[in-house]
Amino acid sequence: MFGTKDIVGLDIGSHSIKLVRLKKGKKGFELLNFGIIPIPPETIVDGLIEKPEIVTNAIKNIFKTERIKTKEVVTAISGESVVIKKINVPKMTEDELAESIRVEAEQYIPFDIEEVNLDFQIIKETGAKEAEKEETGEEGAPKANMDVLLVAARKELVEGRNKPIIDADLKPVIVDLDVFAMENGYEFNYGVPVGEVLVLVNIGASFTNVNILVDGATEYTKDITGGGNRINHELQKNFNIDYDTAEKLKMGIGLNGTSEKDVANVIISALGELSHDINKMFHDFIKSTGKNINRVILSGGCARIHGIEKILTENFDIPTEIINPYKNIKVNHKVFDPQYIQEMAPLAAIGVGLAMRRLKDKAKPS
Ligand SMILES: Nc1ncnc2c1ncn2[C@@H]1O[C@H](COP(=O)(O)OP(=O)(O)OP(=O)(O)O)[C@@H](O)[C@H]1O
Ligand SMILES: [Mg+2]
Repeated sequence: MFGTKDIVGLDIGSHSIKLVRLKKGKKGFELLNFGIIPIPPETIVDGLIEKPEIVTNAIKNIFKTERIKTKEVVTAISGESVVIKKINVPKMTEDELAESIRVEAEQYIPFDIEEVNLDFQIIKETGAKEAEKEETGEEGAPKANMDVLLVAARKELVEGRNKPIIDADLKPVIVDLDVFAMENGYEFNYGVPVGEVLVLVNIGASFTNVNILVDGATEYTKDITGGGNRINHELQKNFNIDYDTAEKLKMGIGLNGTSEKDVANVIISALGELSHDINKMFHDFIKSTGKNINRVILSGGCARIHGIEKILTENFDIPTEIINPYKNIKVNHKVFDPQYIQEMAPLAAIGVGLAMRRLKDKAKPS
């Protein structure tokens, strides 16, 4: 059966590739593999794979180390070349929308429509837009509209993401989005967050993926440029050090005379700038919906920064906690070192969401 076919979740980040493989049994998921392999700087820039051969080798290596024979891979894209937008269109069938989506989408897409891959998901039926009500007048039949989640990604980005996978003799069967993968992973582990506004924030090296969920459905989502690399940049500037030294300093290694407090202050200040960008997004959301945000859930490598949940709770003025992507997944501690799995858990969040996908899925646009 397609639905149970083994699949590998491959989260290709600019800092590292994370591999997750799950077994789907009667009682839920069990972790089969978790692997991580570093990616050198400048290999993936602004979400685009600039040096595919390095990524291909890394993928081959990680499959070899993990001894995986499965060929089917689910991967994801993110960044500013991806647009995810909730739009409101006249009510129509899925087939009709598939026909007209290009025309509907044109006004929302900042790139040439011929250069994008489009996908959509009908969310729910709504009333007519105010302007349309007036046009129709009281006498006309009441028009129905519907909310649709529109996804547009530059073809270049999708093809670029698939190339190193194909070159590694694997099959990219689904290309998801980082923000949807983190949502799937969260909801499987914690349940659909009904009756609240929950924000998933994944702080990686190049990007911070933000997904604002209202009653468990994406209302507003964006990939903000910036993450751990921004912090490195500040550390490099402040202490006059190179990237690798900054990278270690951020993890509390190799202080070399630098005071821990000074390092912490630079990290806090860089996180302040990133929080400022995220807060701008929160304010736009609050302004347009009139809703408040109840909780923030953090993932990504930067969620490992010491004390980050406290720093961000203050910056956002919203309770912020770190995700446990294995909350509802069986992890055999005879196979996996519990301390390692726990330490790496925030980095695994997107990979776990990807590994949950099965070929028959069409739950989210892909
Ligand atoms: N223990 C740690 N302490 C502080 N920072 C850490 C730690 N571990 C990882 N990071 C930082 O997390 C970032 C990597 O996170 P992640 O693996 O989520 O990014 P990525 O998916 O490779 O990148 P992106 O998706 O942004 O291209 C790096 O900036 C790295 O320095
Ligand atoms: Mg990432």
